[in-house]
Amino acid sequence: MPEKSSEKTVYVCTNRRFSLDSPSCAIRGSEKTLELLKQEMVKRELSYPIEKTICLGQCTFGPAIRVAPGGEFFLGAKPAKIDEIMDWLVNEMGKED
Ligand code: FES
Repeated sequence: MPEKSSEKTVYVCTNRRFSLDSPSCAIRGSEKTLELLKQEMVKRELSYPIEKTICLGQCTFGPAIRVAPGGEFFLGAKPAKIDEIMDWLVNEMGKED
């Protein structure tokens, strides 16, 4: 099993805008992605800190997820990509800061 980082946190943007002219991660399914990530971590026996957050400034490319501190973004994090997101997450959480 990959080592887990005790200092990093996974942030999933669940910001919701109601204007059709303004994209937001929640409208694109980020709440479902967050739910699936939590379920998948249980299945894989991982316990990464994971939190929902407000806008990460990547609205046009969302749903957006970021590992912080120091992590990259995963953009376009739709529920259908849950396996790809999990593989990325395991890699990000295992990196040194
Ligand atoms: S609404 Fe999610 S990054 Fe802006």
